[in-house]
Amino acid sequence: MSPALEVSNLTMDFGGLRALDSIDLTVNHGEIVALIGPNGAGKTTFFNCITGIYNPTAGDMRLVSPEGKAVRINGLKPNQVTENGMARTFQNIRLFQNMTVLENVMIGRHCRLRAGIPGAVFRPPRVRKEESRLIEDSYRMLQKVGLEKYVNEFAKNLPYGAQRRLEIARAMATEPFILLLDEPAAGMNTQETKELDELILRIRNEEGICILLIEHDMKLVMSLSDRIYVVDYGRKIAEGTPGQIKNDPAVIKAYLGEDIDA
Ligand SMILES: Nc1ncnc2c1ncn2[C@@H]1O[C@H](COP(=O)(O)OP(=O)(O)O)[C@@H](O)[C@H]1O
Ligand SMILES: [Mg+2]
Repeated sequence: MSPALEVSNLTMDFGGLRALDSIDLTVNHGEIVALIGPNGAGKTTFFNCITGIYNPTAGDMRLVSPEGKAVRINGLKPNQVTENGMARTFQNIRLFQNMTVLENVMIGRHCRLRAGIPGAVFRPPRVRKEESRLIEDSYRMLQKVGLEKYVNEFAKNLPYGAQRRLEIARAMATEPFILLLDEPAAGMNTQETKELDELILRIRNEEGICILLIEHDMKLVMSLSDRIYVVDYGRKIAEGTPGQIKNDPAVIKAYLGEDIDA
């Protein structure tokens, strides 16, 4: 197994609060890995650190492409992290609500285009060709996530589960080799969650993208994940296969009162 994301000793302080304490985490190519833990454990902070939104207090973060190109991502801006092959969705939906479904995906894809501002203004044939390819590629992405019927609909008019899938499509449009999903099933009904489960599996199996998933729906986590990391109060308290995690006393204690055996 070869690593796609290697995080070591990641620490994040907010004033006096240590939100992350020396976290080591690896996602290998081909894997679906879950990051779980009670509310406030530091999961979203972890995503924000590795995607360049926060500047961590300490730690090392590396991306390694499927071709073996390694990049240290400490200090990179979010768009630079995306350009290096890691895309994400957010815990709270962040779509351009007044743009169409297609436009939302096109924006995600934009970071892969070569034409800069002059090209966009003067639109030589090469740029126009690039634009029509952008539309075609974006449409194909919508087909992959099953949203093509909404192509010209405003994002705000989509059912909730479809909005979540659109966020995934937009992230995928940046051509990542690793995809980070922050609570993708939150607020979904049973049917929507089932479709999400299938979509995540397809992204891994057919697109060859590895996935790091923050999720509270334990049934989804246990069925999808190859490995699971558990954090509590910023510390890693367990790591292992779903079977190992389910029976880990430290995990059961952290979730006391919550049903992890869903
Ligand atoms: N920007 C911030 N400033 C100060 N404290 C923060 C900030 N972001 C998160 N925290 C704190 O860090 C801890 C972890 O939060 P978070 O990563 O959102 O948890 P989780 O996603 O696991 O529910 C919480 O105590 C939260 O209040
Ligand atoms: Mg969170």
